[in-house]
Amino acid sequence: MRATVDRAGLDPQGRLPKVQVRRVRKGDLAKVKDVFEQSFGDFLERQLGTRPRQAFNGAQYVHHRWLMEPWGCFVAEEDNAKIVGAALAVTWGTLGLVGPVAVLTHYHNQTIAQQLMRAVQDFFDENKATLHGAVTYPTSSKHLALYHKFGYKPKSLTAVMSRALDRAGVRGAVVKPPVAKGTLTVRRFSSLEETKKKAALARIHRITNGVCRGLELAKEVEIVEGLALGDTLLLERGAELVGFAIYHAPGVSEAPTGSLYVKYLAIDPRQRKVEHLEQAVSAIEELAQEQGFQRVILPVYLRYWIAYSTLVKCGYQVDFTMVRMQKGKPEDYEDAADLVLDDWR
Ligand SMILES: CC(C)(COP(=O)(O)OP(=O)(O)OC[C@H]1O[C@@H](n2cnc3c(N)ncnc32)[C@H](O)[C@@H]1OP(=O)(O)O)[C@@H](O)C(=O)NCCC(=O)NCCS
Repeated sequence: MRATVDRAGLDPQGRLPKVQVRRVRKGDLAKVKDVFEQSFGDFLERQLGTRPRQAFNGAQYVHHRWLMEPWGCFVAEEDNAKIVGAALAVTWGTLGLVGPVAVLTHYHNQTIAQQLMRAVQDFFDENKATLHGAVTYPTSSKHLALYHKFGYKPKSLTAVMSRALDRAGVRGAVVKPPVAKGTLTVRRFSSLEETKKKAALARIHRITNGVCRGLELAKEVEIVEGLALGDTLLLERGAELVGFAIYHAPGVSEAPTGSLYVKYLAIDPRQRKVEHLEQAVSAIEELAQEQGFQRVILPVYLRYWIAYSTLVKCGYQVDFTMVRMQKGKPEDYEDAADLVLDDWR
């Protein structure tokens, strides 16, 4: 049975509107952003009882994602005139990620999200993504139902964690674990000579491929640099890449106002040492402090239990949790000892 909804989307004769799904065009970008802000704002207001001023605290998803993966971005349009829903998807090599997906509240329960999901599914198939993923709200039966229809199963929680930085540069009240000094050096991807970037991307791929076969983040690294959304830190020992972290700084990126946000961090599985993750976190915090941000946001999937425990030890607290939804193969690729921070939002 359909949930009761305000059917403002029906025409005067009570018929369902003619909604078509098509790819996002440049002229749609502002409208897609509005659709996300409004529909997530409505959802959060229903959940929290009060409407957040901004649904994503200033984080932006649309413009750079569309530039990075235009073929993976879809809108649902009513009568060729009004955008009433949107879905963004990206392929990280063999991993296809969908989200955000949203439909204006007045148009809910008219299968619009399912039409968008079908378009995303085709996009994943065309690009040979064998593992498909999303994150959603674990308390919402509707969200579970939607993903269930497309074969996604709930996995573990993703915790979005953060830590406030002390303005003076002192590390607050938290006593940080001692970090092995001098073992790793930190460089920024953007500081490399153009001729060295290809080799750096290949070394990054070697790490992600070790975490999950076929996982490839080159386009995330490149868009973050190309649009100056942030940068990628390279943690090196001599010529060897031990780990990397793609981060966003606030402005037009996925970082909320005032916070440095890590989208993806991995320590090479062949060199899994907690000290390396601690050192990476320290480097990110130092950078955030240098740039005058008040907070660092680090997402962690709780199957990576050692990574989560390390963040707790470093003074990070959970801001909120979401559940990872997944389908396809390899079903259980995660190694609990991998030192990975990744966000599938
Ligand atoms: C989640 C969202 C995208 C769904 O959009 P939608 O267009 O209403 O979804 P659809 O109509 O395609 O599909 C919803 C299905 O869930 C069913 N459903 C609705 N409420 C339900 C409930 N409480 N329990 C179980 N199923 C439910 C509907 O009946 C429908 O299935 P049916 O077509 O077989 O009847 C929309 O609610 C939304 O934009 N929410 C706010 C933003 C958001 O949370 N995005 C998703 C983040 S992961």
